[in-house]
Amino acid sequence: MYEVTLTTLIDGKALATKIKENLKVDIEEFTKATGVVPGLATILVGDDGASKVYIKNKIKSAATCGIESFHHNLPEKTTQQELLELIQKLNVDDKVHGILVQLPLPDHINDDFIIHAIDPKKDADGFHPENMGRLLIGQEGIVSCTPAGVMEMLVHYNISLKGKDVLIIGRSNIVGKPQAILMLREHATVTMAHSRTIDLDKKAQQADVIVAAVGRAKMVKADWVKEGAVVIDVGMNRDENGKLCGDVDFENVKDKTSFITPVPGGVGPMTIAMLMKNTFQAAVSSLK
Ligand code: GUN
Repeated sequence: MYEVTLTTLIDGKALATKIKENLKVDIEEFTKATGVVPGLATILVGDDGASKVYIKNKIKSAATCGIESFHHNLPEKTTQQELLELIQKLNVDDKVHGILVQLPLPDHINDDFIIHAIDPKKDADGFHPENMGRLLIGQEGIVSCTPAGVMEMLVHYNISLKGKDVLIIGRSNIVGKPQAILMLREHATVTMAHSRTIDLDKKAQQADVIVAAVGRAKMVKADWVKEGAVVIDVGMNRDENGKLCGDVDFENVKDKTSFITPVPGGVGPMTIAMLMKNTFQAAVSSLK
């Protein structure tokens, strides 16, 4: 039998723009009513090219939404103690409601130690153990931006997870683990796969929804994907020609899917929109 699946491209860029436009209106109203301008402090240590681009986009989006940016560009040789002292200063700065330390940090600085030092109420990334713990047990807190953005996309496109088989490829603290918890909350049956998973292709073939978050260019092939599956690509890689691509072999996979996110223009812009949302949420909570 010849099956034809109608594919919908999930336009993360357009959705993120809409979310930021709505946020701008909400923030304007909030600032008028309270006199408070939401503030986001961003910290970049060193001068990694990709990190610079990410930070630039975050600062630009903040301005679009009416969020004030406080950017700190620190030299590569900054000590852990110096970074800690900056965070402690920002933790008690009333103008700062969200703090974001761009990862990865240089090798001589311990990421976990630094994330732990951020006031959980100002943890715009949702990486602090307190926020991670809250997510795990279903308490209100700040949720990691990329998995939150994926959930918003699914809601917007009316994709229900209830009872569905989800395969998450990648078990990072930033994406895979929080994504699993969020999807479990929506009543999916979640399988977490990773580099040691045996027969990954066969597991993928069973999935109604695949979330690819491993950081390996075009790893998810067409024959891994069930006809009509939903495919979410969190990857951000360069292919053999230096072109930006995801973890999914998009061109060959897309026609089998019911919904698929492109790279670029899928999950990436949603991550930034969620960062803006988290910062605004932190500003609102600071008045409670
Ligand atoms: N590096 C790559 N992605 C992220 C992110 O979402 N937040 C931070 N702080 N650093 C990152």
